[in-house]
Amino acid sequence: MKGHIIFLGAALLFIGIFVKLSPQGKGSYNDKYLSLLGSPHSPDLRKEIAQRHRDLMIFHKMLLGRQRTDPEGEPLRILGAEPPPRETLTCQDLSDLSAIDYIGSGFTKLVLRGTLLNGEAIAIKTVHGEGNDVKNCVKAYGDRVGCHRLATYKLQKEIALMQILRHPGVTQLHGQCYVNSEPADLRVTAMLDLGSPLEMIQLLQAPWEERFKVCLELVRLLHYLAHSPLGSVALLDFQPRQFILVEGNLKLTDLDDATNEEISCRQDADCALTFPARSFAVACSTGGTCMGANEKRNLYNAYRFFFTYLLPHASPPALRPLLQDIMNATGDLRFGIHETLKAFEDVLSYYKSGMNQSWTQDLREYSAQKGFRINETTNDFRCWPSYNHQGCLLSMHSATEAAQFCSSHPRCWNFMIGQQRTWTGRYLVSFTSGGARLIPEENSFVYVKQSSDNGSHDVQNIQKG
Ligand SMILES: Nc1ncnc2c1ncn2[C@@H]1O[C@H](COP(=O)(O)OP(=O)(O)OP(=O)(O)O)[C@@H](O)[C@H]1O
Ligand SMILES: *[C@@H]1O[C@H](CO)[C@@H](O)[C@H](O)[C@H]1NC(C)=O
Ligand SMILES: *[C@@H]1O[C@H](CO)[C@@H](O)[C@H](O)[C@H]1NC(C)=O
Ligand SMILES: *[C@@H]1O[C@H](CO)[C@@H](O)[C@H](O)[C@H]1NC(C)=O
Repeated sequence: MKGHIIFLGAALLFIGIFVKLSPQGKGSYNDKYLSLLGSPHSPDLRKEIAQRHRDLMIFHKMLLGRQRTDPEGEPLRILGAEPPPRETLTCQDLSDLSAIDYIGSGFTKLVLRGTLLNGEAIAIKTVHGEGNDVKNCVKAYGDRVGCHRLATYKLQKEIALMQILRHPGVTQLHGQCYVNSEPADLRVTAMLDLGSPLEMIQLLQAPWEERFKVCLELVRLLHYLAHSPLGSVALLDFQPRQFILVEGNLKLTDLDDATNEEISCRQDADCALTFPARSFAVACSTGGTCMGANEKRNLYNAYRFFFTYLLPHASPPALRPLLQDIMNATGDLRFGIHETLKAFEDVLSYYKSGMNQSWTQDLREYSAQKGFRINETTNDFRCWPSYNHQGCLLSMHSATEAAQFCSSHPRCWNFMIGQQRTWTGRYLVSFTSGGARLIPEENSFVYVKQSSDNGSHDVQNIQKG
């Protein structure tokens, strides 16, 4: 509710500017608005600004419409939307920010990080005055104010989309600040979840389970976007750098290139979806739009930018046939987003179930020491890719699977199962070499290899304390 009031306040301020600066008080909404920009203006720039203004007003009307139908402060259930955004940060929080630092910038926007009074760090997004979007525009029209305004519409569109598209896979908007600075220039700042860029190289070195998480979260997001309150939304500029990780979760951060308009067409040929390596036929509906093109476009981009790099590589052998099916079906667009999501969720539950593996290793070859953990400072057993760099920390379904792994590595002598779990709920098991010392630790087990053919590594080799 509060978020909506803030939003409403911002929208009113925004609308207030049109009204206040429009002396005649007549003419269309757009005329009123454009008059505040002052002249001279290139007619082309005016046209572009007017178009973006109209596009934005459609989103704003949706948001204000939600506001009106929410008399009790009840979370809205219209249009399949999630409860209203909890925007709590204001212009005051923005001016109180400390430790402001550059994070990144692109064609249109500049992103900084800052620390709130309560110590939490956030990201702030503004128009990048030195970015190529504004620069190119100024070169073409010689109008800095108008060009800044034009770019600001992109940021405003992104803010509106962040409010309308409520999903864990969309970066959360925590607040926005509109400052009307002279001459007739609106400075807009969005306050967002702080994330880190999605580094593909880093992900390729991460355990498969973490790479699968990124793909699954992407698929869940695309499923939502195909059935969003705005209809089927396509990400026109679909690349890993449009995403960030917030506490390990994938979030879309660049929404200014999202569209809910399907391509319009006269015949099927108008609908061909063309990618560098492939193209796909899409049917033109009797209504004159390319049916399902947005969904298909997103899915193929997910395949080519994410799945091909992240999914098959070092995957658990038992999952390979399933993953191969997903790769083949999305790579050929035989699956829609529904089937893709179903296939991913199936992989997840099969993975969580332990994949029907029958481990040949007998856990009785290990002695279980309850209430201990291993002092890992002397451990020199390493594996790759491990959850930690200085050791061998792996995701395991059970102690038996861990025993199987340890027994197949001659230098592994013990493993420890404590409280740590991965995001799928599997155990994070630490494998160590011989000569380890045990430290008392509640709710933790150390399994020690009891080798019959090598007494030197028997349990007495482990010293307690
Ligand atoms: N919330 C955030 N937390 C951390 N980093 C972020 C956040 N939002 C964006 N970034 C970083 O800032 C960069 C620029 O942001 P954004 O993509 O929104 O700008 P843009 O001008 O649209 O860029 P592009 O030209 O890539 O489309 C992103 O590539 C991303 O790495
Ligand atoms: C899917 O499998 C078929 C049949 O084996 C093959 O011809 C096709 O190239 C595969 N497509 C992809 C994207 O791997
Ligand atoms: C772990 O072992 C190292 C080296 O033997 C020792 O210095 C350290 O105190 C031990 N840590 C604990 C918690 O016992
Ligand atoms: C037995 O342990 C010793 C000492 O660590 C090692 O050098 C040797 O290779 C082991 N032998 C077998 C058969 O595992």
